[in-house]
Amino acid sequence: MTRNEQWHIEGNAAELYERYAARYILGPWASGLIAIAGVRAGERVLDLACGTGAVARLAAKEVGASGRVTGLDLNAGMLSVARSLPAPSGGPLEWVERSALDTGLQSHSFDVVLCQQGVQFFPDKPAALREIQRVLVPGGRVAVSVWRSSGIYNSAVGDALRQHVGAEIASRFCASRDAPTGDELTALFVDAGFAAVKLRVERMIVRLPLPEDFVLGHLAATPVASNIRALDSVTRAAVSDHVTRELARYIDGDAIAFPEEINVVTGRGGVA
Ligand SMILES: C[S@@+](CC[C@H](N)C(=O)[O-])C[C@H]1O[C@@H](n2cnc3c(N)ncnc32)[C@H](O)[C@@H]1O
Repeated sequence: MTRNEQWHIEGNAAELYERYAARYILGPWASGLIAIAGVRAGERVLDLACGTGAVARLAAKEVGASGRVTGLDLNAGMLSVARSLPAPSGGPLEWVERSALDTGLQSHSFDVVLCQQGVQFFPDKPAALREIQRVLVPGGRVAVSVWRSSGIYNSAVGDALRQHVGAEIASRFCASRDAPTGDELTALFVDAGFAAVKLRVERMIVRLPLPEDFVLGHLAATPVASNIRALDSVTRAAVSDHVTRELARYIDGDAIAFPEEINVVTGRGGVA
């Protein structure tokens, strides 16, 4: 098992994931992924590794009442938060607790499959891509995003954890950024038989609350939550202060603002 396959959160971490990670770190990319996939009214959309459903909810608005959206994730806590959030006006949303490697969904039953920041956690990526092929209608579209680098904020938090907590905890926190490169992801798509495979790079200036208001809450929404909870208050403050110092040059009013990049790979299902 690689460190990525261990990405798993427990307890109330899913609520905190929605409040910190989904709202500030992942949510802002959701509309771009949906636009790249060209989601249209009436379509059936699968959001794979949906987490608390940021992509699924936006997709439901796009497909409207004549379409439908399924969010699939293997973490029950994430799905419980997804279910608890107000449904947007639009297509019906259903939530499925299952692995992306074996979705149990009907073959050829989706026009579009989206996956935002999920593929890096799949223990068998070729199997997951074959599963996407299976559930897509022939010619159906897929769009998958992964981080392009460890990123300015995550690197600073990783450094803080390495210095004040330990290398193993830092490595576990950084695992979400340990994604396939654009070329590796493209090759996975080609090998799985997708047509019209295309890689693009998307960029954004990300704005996060100041580290003193964000870092410890965010860490409580990650797989290292219990390790951070177990720290004494002096060490917790040292982690937060370290990030504040390292990111001082990115302060912009009451936020930090910095550039971030993702790889997005798109393709068309070809299996009849
Ligand atoms: C970083 S979160 C991204 C969630 C969501 N796509 C978003 O944009 O907020 C990664 C998600 O992948 C899910 N996940 C990891 N391995 C999975 C698998 N094998 N099958 C389904 N979901 C998986 C986790 O439970 C988690 O919700």
